[in-house]
Amino acid sequence: MHISTAFSVLSLLLASITLATQGDRLVLTPGGYRSKSKVYELPTGSSLAHTSDAVQSIDAGGSVIHVDGAGDAMELGRRDFLDGWIAFAWWLNPGLAPIASFTTIWEVPPLPETDHGQTVFLFNALQPNGSGILQPVLQYGPSGAGGGSFWAVATWHVDDAGNAFFTPLVPVSPGQILNAAITLTNTNGSTFDYNAQFTNVPGTSMNLTGAPQLTFAAETLEAYGVTALSDYPSGSTVFSGIDLTLAGGVTPSIAWSHQDDAADGVSISIDVDGATQGRMTITY
Ligand SMILES: *[C@@H]1O[C@H](CO)[C@@H](O)[C@H](O)[C@H]1NC(C)=O
Ligand SMILES: *[C@@H]1O[C@H](CO)[C@@H](O)[C@H](O)[C@H]1NC(C)=O
Ligand SMILES: *[C@@H]1O[C@H](CO)[C@@H](O)[C@H](O)[C@H]1NC(C)=O
Repeated sequence: MHISTAFSVLSLLLASITLATQGDRLVLTPGGYRSKSKVYELPTGSSLAHTSDAVQSIDAGGSVIHVDGAGDAMELGRRDFLDGWIAFAWWLNPGLAPIASFTTIWEVPPLPETDHGQTVFLFNALQPNGSGILQPVLQYGPSGAGGGSFWAVATWHVDDAGNAFFTPLVPVSPGQILNAAITLTNTNGSTFDYNAQFTNVPGTSMNLTGAPQLTFAAETLEAYGVTALSDYPSGSTVFSGIDLTLAGGVTPSIAWSHQDDAADGVSISIDVDGATQGRMTITY
């Protein structure tokens, strides 16, 4: 992880220099750096629709208001999608019924003691076996959605073609409890509709229709620009209430895999394994 992370960060820097000279500034998303022109805030009431070659946002009246083509992918490559994942746990559905619901509860941490312009993301997420990630995200620091020296939440959909959509960023306070939920809302043949949101933070709901099946579940600490351990919140973050159910109401028997950066002082432990009321602790 160490070597590959260092390598990836270097390649990201090189890619960002290349892109900057091409005139399209990079901004940070929970899926890594993206061209600013492809990072799009969803107006209230709109939703996201996957088509065969693009992701469109649709307004409340059903009109297409923004289309992101998948054709002009950035040069970052698929590996780079994982850049910045510092401590995380994951489960890949091995072909059981589709994941129907994935919830996680955590408390907004204290503000980091130091601010070096770093960005910290904490989230649970579902991904297809391919391009894309749907995630209700807590962030500290700047991203393409805005932000700064405070905690805030937004729901994001980011793909490997460089596109990112987010709901308007909502500031939150240390100590506030966040209830994140990603839910399968409909299935039609090989396409799937999902909703992701913080169920207790208004304005964070995102609908995604016509998506491929989301088969990879993750609990993640992702960070960029951290220069000292004090750039993280002190103490630990506990992801609890981790419930993962499959279509048909089935609770699978699962074991979470995990990876962290203990050498740099950040670790994740699986305190309660499995798909019911799971609990994990990220310690900084
Ligand atoms: C994921 O996709 C890769 C190639 O796109 C394929 O080889 C692999 O079998 C897929 N895995 C699952 C679990 O579908
Ligand atoms: C299901 O998909 C088919 C073909 O893609 C489409 O014609 C049909 O309208 C869809 N049904 C629903 C309920 O969305
Ligand atoms: C998402 O879909 C649900 C169910 O169709 C709907 O109630 C809701 O208004 C939609 N929009 C958002 C932003 O959640």
